[in-house]
Amino acid sequence: MAERNDGRTPWYVREAESEEDTAAFAAALAEKAEPGSVLALDGDLGAGKTRFAQAFAAALGVPGTVNSPTFTIIKEYEGGRLPFYHMDVYRLSLEEADELGLDEYFMGEGVTLVEWASLIEPILPPERLHIVLEHTGPTSRRLRCRPVGGRYGEWCLQLGLTPEEDAES
Ligand SMILES: Nc1ncnc2c1ncn2[C@@H]1O[C@H](COP(=O)(O)OP(=O)(O)O)[C@@H](O)[C@H]1O
Ligand SMILES: [Mg+2]
Repeated sequence: MAERNDGRTPWYVREAESEEDTAAFAAALAEKAEPGSVLALDGDLGAGKTRFAQAFAAALGVPGTVNSPTFTIIKEYEGGRLPFYHMDVYRLSLEEADELGLDEYFMGEGVTLVEWASLIEPILPPERLHIVLEHTGPTSRRLRCRPVGGRYGEWCLQLGLTPEEDAES
């Protein structure tokens, strides 16, 4: 994954010991979300991006089932505290993503969660929270967060995340 410390913004780390732990962290983030919030998720297949999105949506109060949007690319959910825009850009070229006009979502009334976000890094909005999910075991994950702009740095501190040692990245 290309998402490493670029020397400008720190990474914060949260070890998730179980699937429930990942879900609890996603729910805590959902409580912070406001119109225009953008979560940029990365991580290998099966790392838990969609699972994270499901817990995030549930905590927003989105009714019904949130599925992987791999084939639909973008799904909009209403009915929660905020509209929830769930994207999976794995199948898109940067050019195709650009043509979709994703800014409408990024700057909309809802909160956007993008799976495989690093693939469209150049067209992500200037303020977003990167979250990289890494396998550390069959049911454990390391959640590495990098706030870029906005209030995301505050969120990380308020959620009790640990700044990552430079040596690790
Ligand atoms: N700690 C964990 N956090 C997230 N998912 C987990 C965890 N432990 C096990 N899993 C499982 O890993 C899988 C993650 O799948 P999914 O969310 O679809 O991944 P992705 O969207 O990153 O490809 C799910 O089957 C989930 O039950
Ligand atoms: Mg997925």
